[in-house]
Amino acid sequence: MKFNLEEKNLKDIQADFALAFVENKNLDAYPKAKDLFKMMNYKGEGTCLDLANRTLYVELKARDLEEIKLCFANAYKALKGLDIKSLKTHFIKGKCTLASLHALAQGFIFASYEYDKYKSEKKSYKLEEILIAADEFEGKEYKRDEALMGLEIGQIVSNACSYAKDIVNEIPAVYTPLSFEADAKNLAKEIDALKCTVYDEHYLEKEGMNAFLAVNKASPLPPRLIHLEYKPKNPKFRAVFVGKGLTYDSGGLSLKPGASMVTMKSDKAGGAAVMGILKAISSLGLDIEVHGVIGATENMIGSDAYKPDDVLKSREGKTIEVRNTDAEGRLVLVDCLSFAQDLKPDLLVDLATLTGACVVALGEQTSGIMGNNEELQDEFYKASKMSGDLACVLHFNKYLRELLKSDIADISNVSSARYGGAQTAGIFLDNFIRDEYKDKWLHLDIAGPAFVEKEWGYHKPGATAAGVRMCITYLLWLLRSKEWA
Ligand code: BES
Ligand code: ZN
Ligand code: ZN
Repeated sequence: MKFNLEEKNLKDIQADFALAFVENKNLDAYPKAKDLFKMMNYKGEGTCLDLANRTLYVELKARDLEEIKLCFANAYKALKGLDIKSLKTHFIKGKCTLASLHALAQGFIFASYEYDKYKSEKKSYKLEEILIAADEFEGKEYKRDEALMGLEIGQIVSNACSYAKDIVNEIPAVYTPLSFEADAKNLAKEIDALKCTVYDEHYLEKEGMNAFLAVNKASPLPPRLIHLEYKPKNPKFRAVFVGKGLTYDSGGLSLKPGASMVTMKSDKAGGAAVMGILKAISSLGLDIEVHGVIGATENMIGSDAYKPDDVLKSREGKTIEVRNTDAEGRLVLVDCLSFAQDLKPDLLVDLATLTGACVVALGEQTSGIMGNNEELQDEFYKASKMSGDLACVLHFNKYLRELLKSDIADISNVSSARYGGAQTAGIFLDNFIRDEYKDKWLHLDIAGPAFVEKEWGYHKPGATAAGVRMCITYLLWLLRSKEWA
């Protein structure tokens, strides 16, 4: 999809179709369409198609960023079946021009995302060009540079989200740890500023990453630890993102029930998000050193599978009693987090589809933010709100900490209580974070929104790239000296 900012009035732009916004259900703004609205029984909610005048009326509920995205996404949805190549529109100016145009691009790109690789009949939508009138919308001034920058950032971030979604939506027979390796290497080939190093099972053995290796044991496919690096000349700080890349989670010997296993191709969403973040940050050329670390493996069953009752020694030296092989993500993550801490991060964030408990606690649309640094958690919460990712802070406490005690090893991989599973998983990870990084670390449990089987807002059924926009928004905010746009 192409976006052009035209230095023209809307009426002087040549296009197949036009958008007209209906705010506060105020239809009086369009007196010429009075008869059409009456005939179509349109009261200002949703969309109304005026084929004779090639105009789509679309409701704009409010001028905040989410409603701007929804407005353009709904417009795309209403028009996608028509034989239209180009669409002209005003831009909706919210508080900030840059963010408003970012939102415009994101609304269109998210709405146009399709995963139909396995459909015999592909949908062929024709709408390719969005022409944006840069005339003053309702007398409000705009700055062209800011507007163009907003469009550029909006496209880069949204396309990075589509890239992450494609990884998550791909089926487990096709997308394996070796696909993560190939994709990461291709990304580094495509973007000069990105470097990619891939480590195999021999390296993991040498490094004592026995928790990670145990999860891989029953898989016929080798594990991969992928390290992506983006190092600009004068970086302001160093951020490391760690992603859970389980290309399939059957539960292992603590096998998942059939119904819960469906959608577990999405257990690689943390890794996919890290790929998306690195793609966007390096394309934007931001002055931040950013690393991506992905732990990629399957969790399968077989006679060589790791077992409940096993004790594993992690890279950090702590021993772990395995009481449930379905709590595998945390085992992979602690060895990856150990590797990540050696990179001396100023900020360390892991993204993982870690617990069903987080979905129960927060619902399917919301990620859990956990850690030890309340200020950092609150900042991330704000970033999530700005970005469109939904998130909520979950706090640890000393009573939950006690639930991971093991009689035989230093720690158990599951809690001894039924409740609070999202936090106890976070606390498990915290046990492998060194003192100097305790306040620099955040854990994002994206199990809910990473993959949702029904459509919501501007998201299609399936992958949503949960966490990508939130993390990028946080970094952009840091670069703006902690000023919200
Ligand atoms: N990958 C799952 C978590 C998950 C559940 C992701 C639902 C997305 C949707 C994870 O590896 C898992 O199985 N966790 C267990 C932990 C339990 C055994 C302590 C869970 O949540 O049931
Ligand atoms: Zn699991
Ligand atoms: Zn899992």
